Amino acid sequence: MDRRVFIQGTAAGFITLLLSGCGLALQNMSAGSTAAQITDKTSKGGNKMKITVITGSPHKNGTSALLADKFIEGARQAGHEVFRFNAAFEDIHPCLGCDRCGMNGPCVHQDAIDKKLMPQLLAADLVVFVTPLYYWGMSAQLKTVVDRFYASNAKLCGSGKKAILMATAYDAKDWTMSSLTHHYQTLMKYLGWEDIGTVLAVGCGSRPVIERSEFPEQAYQLGLKI
Ligand SMILES: Cc1cc2nc3c(=O)[nH]c(=O)nc-3n(C[C@H](O)[C@H](O)[C@H](O)COP(=O)(O)O)c2cc1C
Repeated sequence: MDRRVFIQGTAAGFITLLLSGCGLALQNMSAGSTAAQITDKTSKGGNKMKITVITGSPHKNGTSALLADKFIEGARQAGHEVFRFNAAFEDIHPCLGCDRCGMNGPCVHQDAIDKKLMPQLLAADLVVFVTPLYYWGMSAQLKTVVDRFYASNAKLCGSGKKAILMATAYDAKDWTMSSLTHHYQTLMKYLGWEDIGTVLAVGCGSRPVIERSEFPEQAYQLGLKI
């Protein structure tokens, strides 16, 4: 599949975005914000959703895992169905760029992303990205999963899903999460998905620190209110 198809996908996603009015919601997301942002696009408990949570940390009981735990606790309490995919503990492989999938077909990697995650992801109403900040972006484990969207690009692009980003970082500068949130916003714009909230846990480099912070409660409340 050549580059033109990817550009066509971009155009289709952008038109969908404009038609669905998501552009306004995306503009509301501040790249440098340090607090949880819950937009008024949440379902407020009205609709039961299928949720896929993708985590990207190699620490089973780390800081970002705690945000995922708390979000899932809230979401399940609100009656939503949650599937969790811990990328660091699954058999996953990076995209080879071989284009055998043609951006709309089976991946040459018949691994956990293709077999376990993708059916859940395609059926999901809401996708939650959870990552530690690694060199100002998402972890390689999570990026590996995102790159593999390529084989299902035609189905994912313009599918109108909702999305949430939750991240943890050691630093607490006003620009600590800027690159990550900018990437996330760009991804939303391309896919035509709707951002409905973020939890950006800056200054949380270890488990004892995040446990004393307000961020786990923010993640729980976000799960409860969607
Ligand atoms: C490879 C690596 C890169 C990191 N890069 C950053 C960074 O760019 N900025 C930052 O504030 N913290 C950085 N950190 C710290 C982690 O984001 C932080 O400790 C986080 O809480 C770890 O999350 P986890 O417990 O879920 O794995 C980095 C840590 C590692 C191991």
